[in-house]
Amino acid sequence: PVDPVEQSKKLCAYAAVQDNLKPHHRIIGIGSGSTVVYVAECIGKMPNKAEFVCVPTGFQSKQLIIDNKIQLGGLEENPTIDIAFDGADEIDSGLNCIKGGGACLLQEKLVADSSENFIIVADDRKNTGVLGKGWKKGIPIEVIPNAYNKIIKELTALGGAPKVRPGAPAKAGPVITDNGNFIIDCDFGEIPAAKVADLNSKIKAMVGVVETGLFVGMAQKAYIGNADGTVTTLT
Ligand code: A5P
Repeated sequence: PVDPVEQSKKLCAYAAVQDNLKPHHRIIGIGSGSTVVYVAECIGKMPNKAEFVCVPTGFQSKQLIIDNKIQLGGLEENPTIDIAFDGADEIDSGLNCIKGGGACLLQEKLVADSSENFIIVADDRKNTGVLGKGWKKGIPIEVIPNAYNKIIKELTALGGAPKVRPGAPAKAGPVITDNGNFIIDCDFGEIPAAKVADLNSKIKAMVGVVETGLFVGMAQKAYIGNADGTVTTLT
């Protein structure tokens, strides 16, 4: 039996690639997570796939590119990316996103920021209208390891409820990102779209914070896969 959520991820990923990947595009950013699996699969099936270079956003993403036999490239050689596709943990009505549920937010934001076009692909559970409404785990924040208690103090003073993300098993210590840092997940409750940019700036200004999982005004479009088999495009 086909899992409807899995089906909706596939539908929105294929629609996003088919609508947005243009003949002049050469350098493609590939995000992380379970939805971009279908982005890589779709690109991997294209007869002209040899024309593309894909820039990954983490270990899983790199392996996806390799598995689909697409040419792999780094951000160093490709500082201008034509188009990037990525998943999201939550999307609001202004296309702001929470990302970093998979701890890849820094490389994801580097690729998104380097891309002329940044397209989100997600199943409809992520499309809640307001950040913090559906995603209850908090905003992922990548921090320099020895700064975690300093930043926890500052995030608490800002009104958040921060926790260092434990690894699996937890006794092995915190999650270590691809960049050798820790992740703090900080719950701020629901964040109205008008306040997302200010909250992001305040967190980003804390010394020791490397990056936040708030992607403010970065996405041009979001392709949402619905449970009924349709795809909604948000712009
Ligand atoms: C990874 O760090 C995240 O930002 C992912 O993009 C996000 O968790 C989406 O993943 P799914 O497509 O699995 O929901």
